[in-house]
Amino acid sequence: MVKKPFIVGNWKMNLTLSEGVEFAKSLKSKLNRKNETICGICPPFVFLRDICSVLESSGICIAAQNIHSDKNGAYTGEVSAPMIKEIGCTHVLIGHSERRHIFGETDSFINAKIKAALSVNLKPILCVGEKLNEREEGRTEYVIKNQLKEDLKGISADQTKELVIAYEPVWAIGTGRTALPEQANEVHLFIRDFLTNEYSRDIASSMCIQYGGSVKPENARELMAQPAIDGLLVGGASIKLESFLKIIEAASGN
Ligand code: PGA
Repeated sequence: MVKKPFIVGNWKMNLTLSEGVEFAKSLKSKLNRKNETICGICPPFVFLRDICSVLESSGICIAAQNIHSDKNGAYTGEVSAPMIKEIGCTHVLIGHSERRHIFGETDSFINAKIKAALSVNLKPILCVGEKLNEREEGRTEYVIKNQLKEDLKGISADQTKELVIAYEPVWAIGTGRTALPEQANEVHLFIRDFLTNEYSRDIASSMCIQYGGSVKPENARELMAQPAIDGLLVGGASIKLESFLKIIEAASGN
C-alpha cells in the first residue's frame, strides 16, 4: 500500500481569527486537488469552528492542539474530545512537547487523552521526542520507547488504524536546528520496530509516522526522501501560507 504523505501545520498560539480564516480559504483554493499529499492544520481552539466551516468537504484535516481526557466536568479552561468532534475536527495533537514540558503533562494523562479521542472517533496525532540532554547521553531510544509504551497502554491493534505518530526531537522544535534526515529516519525505524513488537509488522508499516522540528521549505524534500518518514508536522513555517504550500509541494515530490 502506498501511503500519501501527511503534512500538518501546527499554528500554536499564533494568528488572529480573521488571518486564520483567510489562510484556510486560500489554502483550500490553492491546494492542487491532484496533490499527492493529505494535509491538515491545527488552529487555536477559538478559530476551530469558523475554520471547520470554511474547510467543510475540502479534504483538508482540522486538528485541535489539545484536549482534556474527560468528557465533561469541573475543569476550568479545558476543552473535551466530544466538543472538538462536534464542531467538525478530524484530528487532535496529543502529547506535544510544549504540553509535556511547559505544562507538565504526564504519559498517563496523555494515554487517557488518546483513549478519549478514540472514543469519539477523533484521530490522535501522538507526539514523542527526546530532549537535548537525553540525546547527548545516548538515551534517545530509551526515552522514545518509554513514551510509546506508556502513551499506548491499552490501545488495541484495531485502534492503531486511527493513530498517527509524530517524532519531534525537543531540541529541534522552534530552534532552527533540524534533525539530520538520516538521524530522524533512524528514530522512525526504531518507532516502527517498537510497533512491530507491540502489534504486528503490518500495523507498523501501515501507520503514518511524521517528523517535526524546524521543518522548512528548504529541508522538506530531503526529510520526505527518507524511507521511514511518512509525513511532516510543521510549526513556525506553517503560519505563512506560502511556506506551508511550498512544504506541501516538496512533500508531494513536485
Ligand atoms: P517548529 O515546530 O516547526 O516551529 O520547530 C514543530 C512543532 O512544534 O510541531
